[in-house]
Amino acid sequence: MEKLRLAVVGAGPAGIYASDLILKAERDFEVSIDLFDMLPTPYGLVRYGVAPDHPRIKGIVNALFDVLDAGDIRFFGNVEFGKDLTLDDLKTHYNAVIFATGAIKDAELKIPGAELAGSFGAADFVNWYDAHPDFPREWPLDAKQVAVIGNGNVALDVSRMLVKHPDDLASTEIPPHVEAGLRNSNITDVHVFGRRGPAQVKFSPLELREALAIEGVQSIVYDEDFVYDEGSEKQLESSNQTRVVVKTLEALRAEPQPKASRRLHLHFLSTPEEILGDDHVTGIRVRRNQLDGNGGAVATDEVIEYQVQAVYRAVGYFGSELPEIPFNSKSGVINNEEGRVVDEQGNQVPGVYATGWIKRGPIGLIGHTKADAIETIAHLIEDKALWWNPEKPAEEDIVEFLNSKSVQFVSWDGWLKENSEELRRGELSGREREKLFDREEMVNIANS
Ligand SMILES: Cc1cc2nc3c(=O)[nH]c(=O)nc-3n(C[C@H](O)[C@H](O)[C@H](O)COP(=O)(O)OP(=O)(O)OC[C@H]3O[C@@H](n4cnc5c(N)ncnc54)[C@H](O)[C@@H]3O)c2cc1C
Ligand SMILES: NC(=O)c1ccc[n+]([C@@H]2O[C@H](COP(=O)([O-])OP(=O)(O)OC[C@H]3O[C@@H](n4cnc5c(N)ncnc54)[C@H](OP(=O)(O)O)[C@@H]3O)[C@@H](O)[C@H]2O)c1
Repeated sequence: MEKLRLAVVGAGPAGIYASDLILKAERDFEVSIDLFDMLPTPYGLVRYGVAPDHPRIKGIVNALFDVLDAGDIRFFGNVEFGKDLTLDDLKTHYNAVIFATGAIKDAELKIPGAELAGSFGAADFVNWYDAHPDFPREWPLDAKQVAVIGNGNVALDVSRMLVKHPDDLASTEIPPHVEAGLRNSNITDVHVFGRRGPAQVKFSPLELREALAIEGVQSIVYDEDFVYDEGSEKQLESSNQTRVVVKTLEALRAEPQPKASRRLHLHFLSTPEEILGDDHVTGIRVRRNQLDGNGGAVATDEVIEYQVQAVYRAVGYFGSELPEIPFNSKSGVINNEEGRVVDEQGNQVPGVYATGWIKRGPIGLIGHTKADAIETIAHLIEDKALWWNPEKPAEEDIVEFLNSKSVQFVSWDGWLKENSEELRRGELSGREREKLFDREEMVNIANS
């Protein structure tokens, strides 16, 4: 029987679901899968995006663990496509590749002052509190008043992590340096700015309810922001999620919360247009908007300045270009048609596929990457005649190749050692897990 040697680059949910689905798919060939990740750990944003105080969602890791632990997929962590592996290397060893490299950096927000000290990308802060090994250990939390730009779930995560009292995070998997950083925070007020109205926010109902119920924090909304136009009515009619979100916000408007030492202010119809300060953030200038009847917003003449010492830009994530892989630099995705990678002229690039956030952009929940994978896998199977013909398809060849380049890859057994160490450290500090965060130490533990 013919065999598909498949490389999957990116061990986030998209790469893991794609690997699992092709194993389970109806097919007339055998499959052998190698799953690569630049990190010495699997799980992508489930580990380095999902907030530490969301253990239920972090629990998705258990299902992903079962897929990888079944023994049908080989994991190669600490291997970066573009540095340790090139497209030619993959062609030498595999019949095809699926890129599932997701998104790790912030989308750009082009407003004056965005580059000032004290203006941060949300992704960088997330990477700090989720202890991503490639990000600085220190985070400045000296600001008392902070602005968060954006009305998506990442804005809520960031706001919650900023405003929550550190005792309520102590039992999570955050490592000691993150806990210490949060304990030193001077924060009193977080102002979240959305450019459209309450019926246009992208918060999920559950995440919003959680944000409005943080222990010891007063959530505040403002009457003048509660405007509904024809576009809002349409949105309210068509989306149950919008109805629940608006009901939640209206409930807060009707019944203000008691005063507290920390406050979370939700502002709508407010577009930040300049971050103020000479060499460090001192404030933010916001232009008031009005709804345009079609779900959009237009600027008014009114501007308001808020005194803040830090700004977090939570206006979306953005995918990174991979060497030799056609990329759409406007939307930050690999050029593809339903997961088949295509060049600038729209011609299919044989043997190369994409799935997950790098296929369709940084929007959607973990579960959505399953639907991506179903589509991509179906095309990969249909395209059998276009697969590469590798010179070195044996499973040991890629191991030899990585060894010859002195790439210290982390195997599944290696990850299990890191996992045990995190659980052991967690037990010592009274939590379920304490994350490892030093890449060298992680690789050493994995290969010990
Ligand atoms: C802050 C944040 C919080 C979130 N919280 C939730 C939540 O609570 N619930 C929910 O359902 N969804 C949540 N999401 C969305 C969810 O994380 C995504 O839907 C999902 O992770 C996308 O999966 P992916 O596999 O496409 O990408 P990713 O999860 O980003 O995985 C991509 C993987 O590819 C690897 N990689 C990248 N480049 C290379 C390379 N060159 N070589 C090798 N490997 C590479 C990365 O290291 C990473 O492991 C959140 C997203 C963010 C940003
Ligand atoms: N707990 C969870 O379930 C969870 C947690 C985190 C993330 N996620 C998911 O991960 C995905 C990404 O989340 P996200 O929050 O990064 O993206 P998102 O949902 O797309 O939200 C981005 C926000 O930024 C705003 N924005 C964009 N450009 C702006 C600008 N120039 N000025 C002002 N505001 C601007 C958007 O406003 P407009 O709407 O007006 O464009 C929107 O409110 C989402 O699907 C999210 O649901 C889920």
